[in-house]
Amino acid sequence: MNSESAKTIANQFVDLRKEMDKFVVGHETVKTGLILGMMSREHIYIEGPPGMAKTMLAEIVAAASNLKFYLYQFHRDTRLAELVGDVVIQRERDGDNGELIVQSIRKGGVLTAEICVLDDISRAPGEALNVLLRILNERQFQTDPIPLLTAIATSNPTVDDYYNEPLDPANLDRFTIQIRSSGLIQENQWDQVQEVINLYSDSEFSDEVKPQAMLSRKVFDNAYEVLHKVTVPDLVKRCLIDLLSRFVNQFKLDPSNSLITDRSFLVKTIKVLKAQALLSGRIEVVPDDLNILSFMTTFRVPEEINRSMPALVAETIQRVAS
Ligand SMILES: Nc1ncnc2c1ncn2[C@@H]1O[C@H](COP(=O)(O)OP(=O)(O)OP(=O)(O)O)[C@@H](O)[C@H]1O
Ligand SMILES: [Mg+2]
Repeated sequence: MNSESAKTIANQFVDLRKEMDKFVVGHETVKTGLILGMMSREHIYIEGPPGMAKTMLAEIVAAASNLKFYLYQFHRDTRLAELVGDVVIQRERDGDNGELIVQSIRKGGVLTAEICVLDDISRAPGEALNVLLRILNERQFQTDPIPLLTAIATSNPTVDDYYNEPLDPANLDRFTIQIRSSGLIQENQWDQVQEVINLYSDSEFSDEVKPQAMLSRKVFDNAYEVLHKVTVPDLVKRCLIDLLSRFVNQFKLDPSNSLITDRSFLVKTIKVLKAQALLSGRIEVVPDDLNILSFMTTFRVPEEINRSMPALVAETIQRVAS
């Protein structure tokens, strides 16, 4: 592998980003998070208020990726069978021995899709959600592997007036990439507000956006293969360990106030770091890539610590490097 292949991959994912930019103004963090999750085959959770284009962004990524796509809109009465399929009982002739009762499952969307959008996931009833998230985590149903690369879940912030319930931390931990966002108006992004107004002033209203299919399964497979060959220098490893130890010792993060799992922070972090390097056209992770940790701490640490992540990362790099 050489840096040429990393640059090719970076360009392919830049194309995916341009496709998002065509339809959705701003939300740079959401867009980056979506791309990192797709590259590293990790699940993504986006939380934001109504009407900030969460569903739209997820749909654009799915369509532009050109993967087998399934969108499910959760509601209060969602049944697991709607997601994974129904059990079918059939009678079959068994030669001369009479009849045989055969049980099989007609596979539903989650078991057959390569990318799935779990829209408004916080509306899902508990039983369906627990089983679904286990399937997503294990990427298999019963003993059959599923073709899913990435699930993108969307949700409104869980305050009383939205009629939903917060996902419990263990379930949230299934989503490696976590993004908290808000609307352009609320964020005081007046240039971007202007852009959206221009966009809709100059074009016809249409309920359907038709993104171009930019990528393919082949592109994702190649990116994933190259991802595994990205190297992680010692300095980056030392910085990561330093940060994690500050979480525990300086900020006193423990199970009562946070969810710092070994799975997420020792394993998934490395994958996302590598994705960040690739996205920058590199075959080696650099210390600055540790800023991807902000995508992982969103709902795993207290909000004020999450907000100070960029400063923490910069400080740690300085400390460890000197
Ligand atoms: N930043 C933006 N750029 C362009 N269009 C936008 C933007 N924000 C909102 N819109 C418009 O508003 C619509 C609302 O988007 P969407 O339905 O995806 O929101 P949502 O976040 O999923 O909301 P809900 O939580 O209610 O499901 C989009 O289809 C788009 O037309
Ligand atoms: Mg929506």
